[in-house]
Amino acid sequence: MSYPYQIQSREEYDSVYQKSVADPEGFWSDIAGHFYWRKRWDKVLDWNFTEPDVKWFSGAKLNITENCLDRHLGLLGNKPAIIWEPNSPEEHHRMLTYRDLHLKVMQFANVLKNNGVTKGDRVCIYMGMVPELAIAVLACARIGAIHSVIFGGFSAQSIADRLQDANAKFIVTCDGAFRGNKEIPLKSVIDDALVQCKFVEKVIVLTRTRTPVSMIKGRDVWWEDEIKKVETQGNADCPAEEMDAEDMLFILYTSGSTGKPKGVVHTCGGYMVYTNYSFINVFNYQPGEIFFCTADIGWITGHSYIVYGPLSAGATTLMFEGVPTWPDAGRFWDIIDKYKVNIFYTAPTAIRSLMGYGLGPVQQHKLTSLRVLGTVGEPINEEAWNWFHEHIGKSKCPIVDTWWQTETGGILISNMANVTPGIPTYATYPLPGVQPVLLDEQGGEITGNNVTGNLCIKFPWPGMIRTTYGDHERCRTNYFATYENQYFTGDGSFRNEEGMYRITGRVDDVLNVSGHRIGTAEVENAINMHAGVVESAVVGYPHEIKGQGIYAYVILNNDQVDKELFKKDITATVSRIIGPIAKPDKIQFVKGLPKTRSGKIMRRILRKVAEGEMENLGDTSALLEPAVVQEIVKGKL
Ligand code: PRX
Repeated sequence: MSYPYQIQSREEYDSVYQKSVADPEGFWSDIAGHFYWRKRWDKVLDWNFTEPDVKWFSGAKLNITENCLDRHLGLLGNKPAIIWEPNSPEEHHRMLTYRDLHLKVMQFANVLKNNGVTKGDRVCIYMGMVPELAIAVLACARIGAIHSVIFGGFSAQSIADRLQDANAKFIVTCDGAFRGNKEIPLKSVIDDALVQCKFVEKVIVLTRTRTPVSMIKGRDVWWEDEIKKVETQGNADCPAEEMDAEDMLFILYTSGSTGKPKGVVHTCGGYMVYTNYSFINVFNYQPGEIFFCTADIGWITGHSYIVYGPLSAGATTLMFEGVPTWPDAGRFWDIIDKYKVNIFYTAPTAIRSLMGYGLGPVQQHKLTSLRVLGTVGEPINEEAWNWFHEHIGKSKCPIVDTWWQTETGGILISNMANVTPGIPTYATYPLPGVQPVLLDEQGGEITGNNVTGNLCIKFPWPGMIRTTYGDHERCRTNYFATYENQYFTGDGSFRNEEGMYRITGRVDDVLNVSGHRIGTAEVENAINMHAGVVESAVVGYPHEIKGQGIYAYVILNNDQVDKELFKKDITATVSRIIGPIAKPDKIQFVKGLPKTRSGKIMRRILRKVAEGEMENLGDTSALLEPAVVQEIVKGKL
């Protein structure tokens, strides 16, 4: 299999880009022509950004799993689709060919059906990084159920909120997950969530750690038993459900600037075309190569570049269950050598953390199979870029710095390996079909180069968000209301003299901690739930490894308490309400917060103090009580 739409040179990129802007419908229709559709579209694109209402490939019928599995069986049936490296290097790895994966997806799709799941139902998936997670995702897509994967680091309360929002009656989980030297009791977290979610009808539990679990009669069933039933029924086949191009494929929750996560909705046709196109072009994937993306399938990166992008391209995707630093900090490099990985896609935070272990763990490895490197999730600092380039890529592998979001479905701005140049800290150029603009606060377009502004996209691309589940108005106000006729990303960006984009970070109250999006309002809500807390304000500060750390200013209702113990209590509260990923790194107790006369917290000041910039706090004359600022500065951690 080769890819007729894989761009081969800078000149070709320039001409393809021109075409994609001059005739977007013709451009995407040519690409979509390379997929398997049960019925072709009547119209390539219908759109307005006011409501918003975006439809790609209207009238077309397909099933994404036929594109990810069935259509490869002829040529690639015996080729590896998924290689799975377990948490412990002592345990045997697993390899699933396209034929194996096809069979397993159909079997589990039948399990879902036997348990009452039908087209359009929402299925929550809360599992560790085992092949069955990818199988469960694809099995949902096979029968037209909408998957909502929740990352294993979210708490019972977060799961309950998401289950309620999506009214998900079905759950697929594991007894537990292995991560480094830890065992995470996933089923027990689900049990806690279900105390509040009586509407859940079925929980399918895969055995992984075999930690004791309480299986509730009538509700909870074992994955393995259900598969046996399907086998004895002899119904190995599961025909793919015919889906409309604009039917929902999945929901993925993400943080915004309000206290409640939003269920970002992606649909079948456009998402398939876009993840495939971006995968093949950004990474310059060559048939037969091993692609290793270190993300978790609980995040969009895993959805798009472990599952759908690579599999729709007939690629071999490597899934890793564990963590980069266990049993030692050479684990990624072991895996790269063991499987001769060609393309390695990871997060700047992982690179920075591994840099901290020195070159010892790297030098024991050859890393000669590597051809392309990639980063995602946050801006990469120059030092980490150089280390990655020199020590991992041996100064010969291009690094693609891929900018995108849960809402964009796939990579929007990035250099393309071996096609367009990469320079440290720049995501560089838009992919064909992507039309970025920089706007000022009033919504005026900032033209020319060497300029900074708020990053918007002015024209639809097939992988974009369609709605926020159950609340379309929220989608409109969040992304399409700030600027008329624009999708607003929430990021700021600089454009240099060559028209390359450099993402400068969020311009809203959303933090990026280790590449994970966390809304400050969500963390504040969680802290404020602690009985001893009157009020809190959360801001980000630069963190050497995580990119951003979480700094919380907290007012207590009783000052005479054991402060160290209270910090632990607050941390435990955040863990319980959101999950361990949102734990504050620093908690400073204060008597007051800097507020304007209208009661608005002046976060600018709090941010500056957290960043250690105490000298130049700007104009504080509008504050109700300017004295609180001195106290805050004095108490800075
Ligand atoms: O601020 C940008 C940052 O991550 C945000 C999106 O987060 P999320 O939806 O969780 O998706 C992460 C994985 C796609 C963006 O708004 N971001 C993502 N990639 C980059 C980045 N910032 C700078 N450079 C990047 N390459």
